[in-house]
Amino acid sequence: MHSAVELRRITKRFPGVVANDHVDFDAAAGEVHALLGENGAGKTTLSNILTGLYRPDEGEIVLSGRTVEFHSPRDAIDAGIAMVHQHFRLVSPFTVAENVVLGDHRDVGRTFMLQTRAIEKRVAELSRRFGLAVDPRARIWQLSLGEQQRVEILKALYQDARILILDEPTAVLTPHEADALFETVRAMAADGRTVIFISHKLHEVKAVADRVTVLRRGRSIATVPVAEATLRSLAALMVGREVEIGRRADPSAWAEARSSRSRELRETASASSPRRSRACVLWRRAQSACGGGGCAAATRARRSPPGSPMSRRTGLGPASRPA
Ligand SMILES: Nc1ncnc2c1ncn2[C@@H]1O[C@H](COP(=O)(O)OP(=O)(O)OP(=O)(O)O)[C@@H](O)[C@H]1O
Ligand SMILES: [Mg+2]
Repeated sequence: MHSAVELRRITKRFPGVVANDHVDFDAAAGEVHALLGENGAGKTTLSNILTGLYRPDEGEIVLSGRTVEFHSPRDAIDAGIAMVHQHFRLVSPFTVAENVVLGDHRDVGRTFMLQTRAIEKRVAELSRRFGLAVDPRARIWQLSLGEQQRVEILKALYQDARILILDEPTAVLTPHEADALFETVRAMAADGRTVIFISHKLHEVKAVADRVTVLRRGRSIATVPVAEATLRSLAALMVGREVEIGRRADPSAWAEARSSRSRELRETASASSPRRSRACVLWRRAQSACGGGGCAAATRARRSPPGSPMSRRTGLGPASRPA
C-alpha cells in the first residue's frame, strides 16, 4: 500500500546553507511520525515545503502514490495538508468559530454571511471528538496559548486535513496541556489521519510517535520505529555521537518548555518593542508568582480583571501591570 505522504530527495538551499539535503521521508495514514532534530536541522523548512510555502529546489512530493506540485499553501490545503505553526495565525478580535471558518475557502468559508450557529455546532463536535476543549464563541484574545493552539488544530480538522503537521507544539504548553495534546494527536491518528509531530525533545517522541525520522544538518539520518529506539539511541542519531542521557541532557518537559519560552521572550523583548518587553516582564513575574505557572498562566493573568481568582493568585491583573 502507498504511504499517505512521501518526500523523495527533497533539497532546499538558502544563501550559504543547505536546509534540506536530499531528504527522504514517508508517513502512513493512521501514523504519528515524529520529525526529530536539533535547532537548524531543517525540520521547519521540510514542513514548509510540504505545505506549499516553499518550493523545493530538487525532489518530489508524493501523496498516496501520486506526485504532486504545490504552487501555494492553498494547493497543499486542497490536497488535505495543514500545519500548526510555532507562531499562531489567528485574528484576535474574532471568535473561535470565525477563525476556524476563516481558514476554509470551501462552501461557507467563501460566503460573506456566516451561518454562525452551524459553524459553532461543527466546531463543538470536533472539540468533543478530539478532546480540544475550547468555547466556539470565545474571542481569541481571551484564550491562553494552549487554547489558541487548539483553535489552530480545529481549523485544520474543520478543513478536513488528512495530514497534520505540528511544529514544536509543546513549546507553549504546560505539562498537563502537553499530555492532553498527546491524546488529541493519538485520537487524530486513530481516525486515520497522519500526524507529523516536529520536536527536538526525545521523551516527547517516545511518548507520542509510532516512527521517527531524524534530521541532522539538513540530512535525513534514519527512520526507526519508536518502540525499538531508546532515548540514548535517538540522542546519538540526533547529534551524531554518543551522549550521556540524564537529567541535564534530557530535562523534564516543563523545565525545558519554561526555559525555551523564557529565552524566546527575552529575545523578542530585546527587539525593543514596548509590548514585547512587557510580555517578558509579565512572564518573569508569572514565573515567580505562581512557581512556574508558565506562559499560558501569564497570558491568562494578563487578561484577568483585577480581583479575579487568577489575578489574586498571580498578582498580575491589569491593575498591577507595569507602566
Ligand atoms: N527563509 C530562510 N532564509 C534563509 N535561511 C533559512 C530560512 N529558513 C531556514 N533557514 C536556515 O535553514 C536551516 C534550517 O532551518 P529550519 O528552520 O528548517 O530548522 P529547524 O530544524 O526547524 O530548527 P529549529 O529547531 O530552530 O526550529 C537553518 O540554518 C536556518 O537558518
Ligand atoms: Mg523549526
